[in-house]
Amino acid sequence: MTKAIVLAGGRGTRLYPVTRTVSKQLLPVYDKPMIYYPLATLMLAGLREILVISTPSDLPRYRDLLGDGSQWGVHIEHLPQHEPRGLPDAFNVGKGFIGEQSVALILGDNIFFGADFPRMVRNAIAQNPGATVFTHQVREARRFGVMRYQDGKPADIVEKPAVPPSSHAVTGLYVYENDVVQIAASLQPSPRGELEISDVNRRYLREGRLAARFMGRGIAWLDTGTHDSLLEASQFVQTVEHRQGLKIACPEEVAWRMGWIDDGRLAALAHSIGGAYGEYLEELLQAPGAA
Ligand code: G1P
Repeated sequence: MTKAIVLAGGRGTRLYPVTRTVSKQLLPVYDKPMIYYPLATLMLAGLREILVISTPSDLPRYRDLLGDGSQWGVHIEHLPQHEPRGLPDAFNVGKGFIGEQSVALILGDNIFFGADFPRMVRNAIAQNPGATVFTHQVREARRFGVMRYQDGKPADIVEKPAVPPSSHAVTGLYVYENDVVQIAASLQPSPRGELEISDVNRRYLREGRLAARFMGRGIAWLDTGTHDSLLEASQFVQTVEHRQGLKIACPEEVAWRMGWIDDGRLAALAHSIGGAYGEYLEELLQAPGAA
């Protein structure tokens, strides 16, 4: 069973002063905390063994919000990352949790939206050659890890390039075989003093064990790294939810539709949450066909 890690660490300095006293991944993206989006992505991919990594000071907040996951029919553990040492440090922190299994890593600030995406992730997990990354067309590739192609094939991944070799960003969802734990342990920090996920992915690429799956334009990938992109993500979610009357990345709904919680449990969650969000959950029970 593939394990999953949500990394909700970091200082969020690019969003200061908003994130001076609040963890970035707890900020709202329209009607729910940011971390619900990556969590729902994992759940929709069928992943139920989840580790949430955050800073020692933020950990109690995530525990309060998510608990042990049983309310959603999943299993959530929480561990602190004492220093923001970079994304691959998630595998050092999560070593015991991962055990002998393969593992998916998702960044707590990455939002994926598209009906086809869960199937794409499931297939990627089933066919993973060592590592799988998901790429997406973006206008400002220099803000991300970027794929370089040669003869149409992935040839390199360049982290935050001044001159991007393509417009395909490597998104914040990765699937790895268990040997990522050893690879992460052997990494050296980059010039900016952090372990780089692109170094991990390049290693698999060199070994011929990296799959890059390109998400077509029918899938949206939003990041929340700047004030503008955070607001745009909220507006995107608001627009789609208003139009359809269906929520994006609602973990209670996902758990219920996956058959992990029953009607009674959903009703209890609706009651305890209350407000417009609770009403939405109650309405699902009255008109379940709307998926
Ligand atoms: C990180 C990765 C980068 C990736 C991005 C996706 O960047 O280093 O390769 O494209 O996440 O969100 P960061 O957000 O830490 O700057």
